Amino acid sequence: MMMDKKITVLDMQKMKDEGRNITMLTAYDYPFARILDSAGVDILLVGDSSGSVVAGHENTLPVTMDEVIYHTRAVARGRKKALLVSDMPFMSYQVSIPDARFNAGRFLKEGRAEAVKIEGGSQMKDTIKALVDIDIPVMGHIGLTPQSIHRMGGYRIQGRKEGQAEALMADALAVQEAGAFAVVLEGIPSTVAERITRELRIPTIGIGAGPHCSGQVLVIHDLLGLSGRKLKFIRQYVDIEKVISEAVGRYLEDVRSGDFPSEEESF
Ligand code: KIV
Repeated sequence: MMMDKKITVLDMQKMKDEGRNITMLTAYDYPFARILDSAGVDILLVGDSSGSVVAGHENTLPVTMDEVIYHTRAVARGRKKALLVSDMPFMSYQVSIPDARFNAGRFLKEGRAEAVKIEGGSQMKDTIKALVDIDIPVMGHIGLTPQSIHRMGGYRIQGRKEGQAEALMADALAVQEAGAFAVVLEGIPSTVAERITRELRIPTIGIGAGPHCSGQVLVIHDLLGLSGRKLKFIRQYVDIEKVISEAVGRYLEDVRSGDFPSEEESF
């Protein structure tokens, strides 16, 4: 059901309690924010996935605070209703709690975000609490956490090995206990995600975590066929790369043949 009024962090809990699935998509700029917001998405996430799908890096580690703030400001101008969440990039919250507070505050102050997302479970509970204590709403993110690529030895499904499912449950509970309003579950078996979603009071938002979460998130470039990634958990709804490539091909042909611009397109 699409909401007519501004969506806030409080609506997330309400949606879980009422059994309504939460929809979340990434956005990195003004036109996408405008389109996704008017299509009725509940949450716009300025993901550090921008590093991969917009900037062309091989992972999210090089993404900087200033880059995410730039994207957040553009997205904020395009959205009207959706809750705006900014991803805290690698090394913007891991070094110290004062750092995390200062950097998270920049997203609200300079970017007009309404919440931040940070990766990590039990080891991040003090950091999450420190942000929540100064009224910065936090979305957690556990399981396959892309900023931990080197520890994980690549983008591998988490929670399959002996003891890992219990560790994930402990992470989810720690994030909730610290005061997060929701938690992303990425790249974990759907049985584990189902159990976490059942145990937690706060909503879970899945990506590669099966159908039993309280909501789902996808990277918009994956959904539109703009990222070149073909992964099991992605549903690609359209091939925009093909659409762009055909349109550009026609433009090139028209310029080369002298067909563009026509008399009507000239002054
Ligand atoms: O950076 C991102 O886009 C994310 C989502 C995929 C959850 O963290």
